[in-house]
Amino acid sequence: MRLYLALSCLLLVVESEIHIFESKTTEIPAQRGTRIYFLTNGNEDDLRDITIKAEKSHIDTNVSKYSVPQVDGSLNPLTITADNDTVVITRPVGNTTPVTVYQDRVTDSLNVFPVFSNSAIQFKSGKNVFFAVDKPNGKILTIKNLKVDRQNNGFLRAYSGVPGDLIPPPYLFFSSDLYDDVNFYQQLDIPLSDFSLDVVFSGVSYTVSFGEATTTLQSAGLVMSPGFPTTMQPSDVSYTVRRTGDELISLHMNPYFYREQSYITDINVKFGFGVEQGNSFPSELNGRLSASGAINSVEVKSIGAFAIQYYTNSTATSGTVPVEIGTTPSVQTTTKSSYLKQASLSFLTLFASLLLR
Ligand SMILES: *[C@@H]1O[C@H](CO)[C@@H](O)[C@H](O)[C@H]1NC(C)=O
Ligand SMILES: *[C@@H]1O[C@H](CO)[C@@H](O)[C@H](O)[C@H]1NC(C)=O
Ligand SMILES: *[C@@H]1O[C@H](CO)[C@@H](O)[C@H](O)[C@H]1NC(C)=O
Repeated sequence: MRLYLALSCLLLVVESEIHIFESKTTEIPAQRGTRIYFLTNGNEDDLRDITIKAEKSHIDTNVSKYSVPQVDGSLNPLTITADNDTVVITRPVGNTTPVTVYQDRVTDSLNVFPVFSNSAIQFKSGKNVFFAVDKPNGKILTIKNLKVDRQNNGFLRAYSGVPGDLIPPPYLFFSSDLYDDVNFYQQLDIPLSDFSLDVVFSGVSYTVSFGEATTTLQSAGLVMSPGFPTTMQPSDVSYTVRRTGDELISLHMNPYFYREQSYITDINVKFGFGVEQGNSFPSELNGRLSASGAINSVEVKSIGAFAIQYYTNSTATSGTVPVEIGTTPSVQTTTKSSYLKQASLSFLTLFASLLLR
């Protein structure tokens, strides 16, 4: 189970050694039962010119046949039928079609999906792997309208990377088991080039496609730093929280970090009237955050990778609840590292007097 990035090899040859090599050949050792998937958005003529040979399995074909998805969006693999075979993939000089080759022998019920800019891939039972083959401007991979029906054994776990990845191994970034009462997520942001979903049963539905990154938190979803979990780059992102009038919101967040690296992520919850509360999460610990009150936005600052599964709920309007519960901004985190940025105000006094307007 390995990924061969045929494109990068090819570019190297074409750019730097075109005078020496007539063609570029990739050899992949393969066993009986090995399935090879060809992920590409190249045009058919170019793909026809890229040949595939495996002597012992009597395979002599080209990539075009394996690059077109079936009706459900998944690919037909090339399957090796002989022991100790070698798959030889050759492309002619000048052919620069990007092709990624993905190989697996052990994963049961594996479905491999290329995602194109116009794809809308629906649920299919099994272990599902998704690859971004297009890169539409500014868009990212997303799972939209995720429904989890627990009564039909529905659950979903999502991992970065593909089954069999070694560095890092597939890394959990979403689990529907986390919040028992949340059965619908509007959007999971997945700014990665590939990810996989655990075996799921009939109690799940979703659409995988390209979409815009989240800017306003909805009732439930996931936000993520690009290249999670291994990409370490500073980020400072603000998410608006949708709230109408005097409505009070409860916000629940479960961050996932890359535990192999040590870094801090600050999640600042910003309430109305300029009050904000910061919470620092070390990457080595599981953090949880719950906040309630007149929340306007949430700012996430990190020097490393994060994925945050969240949900919000409307608690009430400030006009109808007692001051003590309804209007005091409150934040609880499991890491006990909260700090108040604006300590001079008495929230109770401020909010209580505003209620009397
Ligand atoms: C490529 O494969 C297709 C489908 O198997 C076949 O029709 C075509 O002749 C092949 N082209 C070449 C150049 O081998
Ligand atoms: C495959 O290769 C392994 C290691 O080289 C060898 O032990 C085994 O006998 C080979 N199997 C067949 C069927 O050729
Ligand atoms: C949201 O609030 C309502 C009313 O209090 C409650 O019934 C529901 O379970 C809450 N949803 C979640 C996901 O906690």
